Amino acid sequence: MGKLEFKNINFSYPNGYKAINDLSLTIDSGEKVAIVGQNGAGKSTFAKLMNGLLRPSSGEILLDGKSTKDMTTAQISRRVGYVFQNPNDQIFNSTVYDEVAFSLRALKVEEDELDRRVRKACEICELSELLDDHPYDLPFSTRKFITIAITIANNCDVFIFDEPTAGQDAYSISCLKRVIDHLHGLNKTIITITHDMEFVVENFDRVIVMSNKEIIMDGDKKEVFDEDEVLQKAYIQPPVIKRLCNSISLNEKLLLVDDFVDYVKKMEGKK
Ligand SMILES: Nc1ncnc2c1ncn2[C@@H]1O[C@H](COP(=O)(O)OP(=O)(O)OP(=O)(O)O)[C@@H](O)[C@H]1O
Ligand SMILES: [Mg+2]
Repeated sequence: MGKLEFKNINFSYPNGYKAINDLSLTIDSGEKVAIVGQNGAGKSTFAKLMNGLLRPSSGEILLDGKSTKDMTTAQISRRVGYVFQNPNDQIFNSTVYDEVAFSLRALKVEEDELDRRVRKACEICELSELLDDHPYDLPFSTRKFITIAITIANNCDVFIFDEPTAGQDAYSISCLKRVIDHLHGLNKTIITITHDMEFVVENFDRVIVMSNKEIIMDGDKKEVFDEDEVLQKAYIQPPVIKRLCNSISLNEKLLLVDDFVDYVKKMEGKK
């Protein structure tokens, strides 16, 4: 569960602005995919097309083999959870508990089951101590975790995180990493949109690069961060270890601090 197929998708906003041009790709269930690219490339638009908030002007999207044309937005978003770039666009209840419970109540989930799901989702997102708090009394970073908890409580098959590390400190980013690992362990499909390349290399395998309404590269992170021309076109600065390797002309596909340390130790051992 959680496979998405996009077939020749085009999308224009009501004012006529074309934001997505002939986009085709497949994201398999259980994949961890990062969508990166310059401001205005069409990343968030693409994400909203994935969960039915926006509908393609032409082309077709399949969710687990079934065309989303035949599904309501509520039916799609129940399975494809989109965590907005800005949590304030999503939150309107007066307690954390009620916010996370809201869509389950709308679905008339039985009260014991609802309570279990809300508490479990809040535990995963480290919100258990805050259930009675007003979301707007909590920091922006915590509000982002409330919106993540909503998708977890809904037991979505696909999770889309739009700029999840923006405004998050190191502790919150480590919490986010634990949430992603938890969902990956459940074989959920996890998609992020981000400008944070360190977050990409630490948590994701496949990287899709968007530039000016189109996908200009789609591949394993080691291949993508080796394509200087693609990165320049999409205004992407490679992760710091990659830049370090480039600056000392080290022709190794290293992306993580740990990879670099292992490489140095290996070289030391050869001396
Ligand atoms: N409601 C709208 N009506 C008209 N144009 C829009 C609307 N929303 C977005 N756009 C335009 O569509 C293009 C793609 O926007 P989108 O938000 O998908 O970009 P993005 O890649 O997510 O950018 P960022 O990295 O800044 O979040 C932009 O040029 C944007 O101005
Ligand atoms: Mg965006």
